[in-house]
Amino acid sequence: MKKILITGGAGFIGSHVVRRFVTKYPNYQIFNLDALTYAGNLENIADIDKSSNYTFVKGDIVDADFINDLFQKHQFDGVLHLAAESHVDRSITDPLAFVKTNVIGTMNLLNAAKTIWANNFDGKRFYHISTDEVYGSLGAEGLFSETTPYDPNSPYSASKASSDHFVRAYGETYGLPYVITNCSNNYGPNHFPEKLVPLFIHNIINNKPLPVYGDGKYTRDWLYVIDHAIAIDLVFHEGKNHETYNIGGFNEWQNIDLVKLLCQQMDVKLGRAVGESEKLITYVKDRPGHDLRYAIDASKINKELGWKPSVTFEQGLEKTIDWYLSNEDWLQHVTSGAYQEYYEKQYNGGVM
Ligand code: NAD
Ligand code: TYD
Repeated sequence: MKKILITGGAGFIGSHVVRRFVTKYPNYQIFNLDALTYAGNLENIADIDKSSNYTFVKGDIVDADFINDLFQKHQFDGVLHLAAESHVDRSITDPLAFVKTNVIGTMNLLNAAKTIWANNFDGKRFYHISTDEVYGSLGAEGLFSETTPYDPNSPYSASKASSDHFVRAYGETYGLPYVITNCSNNYGPNHFPEKLVPLFIHNIINNKPLPVYGDGKYTRDWLYVIDHAIAIDLVFHEGKNHETYNIGGFNEWQNIDLVKLLCQQMDVKLGRAVGESEKLITYVKDRPGHDLRYAIDASKINKELGWKPSVTFEQGLEKTIDWYLSNEDWLQHVTSGAYQEYYEKQYNGGVM
């Protein structure tokens, strides 16, 4: 039986990956390692908690001794590394936290894998889940491909770029079998309401202002989280060692257009008059160093592994809204306590 370590499996994307692996691969023993930071929540994976091939481990990837002991004890065959500090705005106020978890934490996992695998790499794999933000910002034209030079602009993307480089360096220097994927913006169930889509759903439900940064013309490529989890499964099993794959939704939206679509769908779901939620749109001061545009060329994963998104944006957004509307307890739990403090600090006094 293969032993697979998934890090960050109580977070947004990680919870969907853990669920997929635990339910689809009963012959794997899945270990979910998560520090349960503000972004980690055991409620996200409560449905699989009792599965016989699943073990949750609470722990911090920054603690090298703990990580080394864990790898020695369980002798993992594969690692899917998703644990990270993931929010750009938080990286602007506390960059060091991002270096600790995203860079040092990744190094600790790489060192532990290298030690237990000790040059016997047969059937072993280290998979780093990364972001398209490492490539920096596009102008009005063009797409990020796997050969686009790294040019990160935010402390978050700089930390992810750094960890990508270390993963690749361990592959070149020590022969560690790795794969890296760089994915565009995800949305979907279990998304912590600090990122655009879940924050705005939460605010629309509560009739609170929708804080659009700058002129709202910033552009992102959006992918439904379950389609990302499907791609991760495919790359883990069929991707080539020492390769990078870009994952994207073929789905670019200017923020303001996305927000208007979200408002329209929410009006219908909440039985509000047409245009009611749009009245909540409020332009606020811009994010420093805000990347203008991300857009992914996902043709490599499409051609080599046959992956493409399974839902349209309209379908994915509707599923997402439905999930939030039927999981108001979840929203209430994650937005009590420290969330209120974060929200005050981030959004107070920012109206343009
Ligand atoms: P998230 O913030 O929702 O979850 C991160 C998880 O990591 C949480 O469960 C948290 O408790 C855990 N964690 C944080 N620090 C830890 C530490 N020191 N030790 C152990 N666990 C720790 O993040 P997400 O959006 O699910 O992103 C997962 C991964 O995917 C990240 O590596 C991120 O860079 C990458 N990614 C995210 C997106 C996106 O749109 N969200 C897109 C592309 C790539
Ligand atoms: P976000 O969800 O934070 O993801 P990322 O910064 O990793 O792309 O932001 C998506 C876009 O939405 C980005 O251009 C910033 C913008 N944004 C707002 O306009 N208002 C907000 O309150 C947030 C959180 C984001």
